[in-house]
Amino acid sequence: VSLKNFNTFGIDVSAKYFVEIAHEDDLVELFMDPQWLQVNRLVMGGGSNMLLKKDFDGLVIRINIRGIEHRLAQNDVFVEAGAGEVWNDLVNYCVDRGYAGIENLSLIPGSVGASPIQNIGAYGVELKDVFKSCRAFEVATSQFKAFNKEDCGFGYRDSVFKGALKEQYIIVSVKFHLSLVPNLNLAYGAIGQELANRNIAHPTIKDVSRVVSHIRVSKLPDPSTIGNAGSFFKNPVIGTEQFAEVHAKFPEVVHYPAANGVKLAAGWLIEQCGWKGKVVGNTGTWKNQALVLVNHGGATGEEVYSLSSQIIDSVYSKFGVFLEREVNIIG
Ligand code: EPU
Repeated sequence: VSLKNFNTFGIDVSAKYFVEIAHEDDLVELFMDPQWLQVNRLVMGGGSNMLLKKDFDGLVIRINIRGIEHRLAQNDVFVEAGAGEVWNDLVNYCVDRGYAGIENLSLIPGSVGASPIQNIGAYGVELKDVFKSCRAFEVATSQFKAFNKEDCGFGYRDSVFKGALKEQYIIVSVKFHLSLVPNLNLAYGAIGQELANRNIAHPTIKDVSRVVSHIRVSKLPDPSTIGNAGSFFKNPVIGTEQFAEVHAKFPEVVHYPAANGVKLAAGWLIEQCGWKGKVVGNTGTWKNQALVLVNHGGATGEEVYSLSSQIIDSVYSKFGVFLEREVNIIG
């Protein structure tokens, strides 16, 4: 089975076995056959945060569990969505009904089920800010288990599902805690600026959603026309001592305070190394955002990976800072 249409990078590799899961009970049924416990498995939602380096010699499980339900309790709104729902469809569902909390996360590619795994975030909001719980299938036991926020160990683009519990659970639904009373997060400079451009003094969540979508479209390539997986690397966090050294040599370095040091803008570091907008074979970095690697057409996973290695090397030699890949590398 070709995976080309199942990964937003548009990498043309194939999977030995492929199954689509439309209901959580399908997982129980699937694993009644013990052969699937023995093979390599790859769980896919929207395929928007992975780089497939080669053909997958195992079973791809595509999660297509749908459905969105909500429950109101005074001003609190609890929305539960199937893991296979498209993330942005959920955002629109909530914004249209006035359920506030995820408007800053408009237009993030991918599925609901993938959202807790890397604790998706954008424009000052992270999934963990609105996460209530999720339900997941434990592969080894075929049991379903609920995870509350503490169980998930959320960090910057990180959770227990990427760490200690990697590949042990398959998320089937996620519950969010939203509100009828908006608590707008407009701290991100470009949002305020774009609201001002539109003469919007008292924004609604719909305004914020529109503005965020506008900013994303202007900076980030649309995966339906140019293959990509969003930010390819994490923004690195370095210690204050190391930061002092970097800052002394490069006073313009774009940085933000972080809990355990200083966070640097990886896009800036990459741009300073001359990579922004550069085309290398069939791949390259995006002209408006150097943190995004793209497939200009026909790129192989190896090609994109090799570019990412070159970028890591050059940022390391110029700044002494190590970039970590944010996209999951498969193969
Ligand atoms: N910058 C440059 N050159 C570039 C890109 C960025 O100099 O080519 C500098 C600019 O100073 C810019 C700053 O870096 O102001 C920050 O850039 P941007 O606002 O685009 O955000 P980012 O830190 O590069 C992160 C997330 C994005 C998210 C945006 C907005 C990560 C790895 N990425 O990017 O998330 O949309 O903030 O909140 O944390 C994703 O994870 O896939 C993703 C797109």
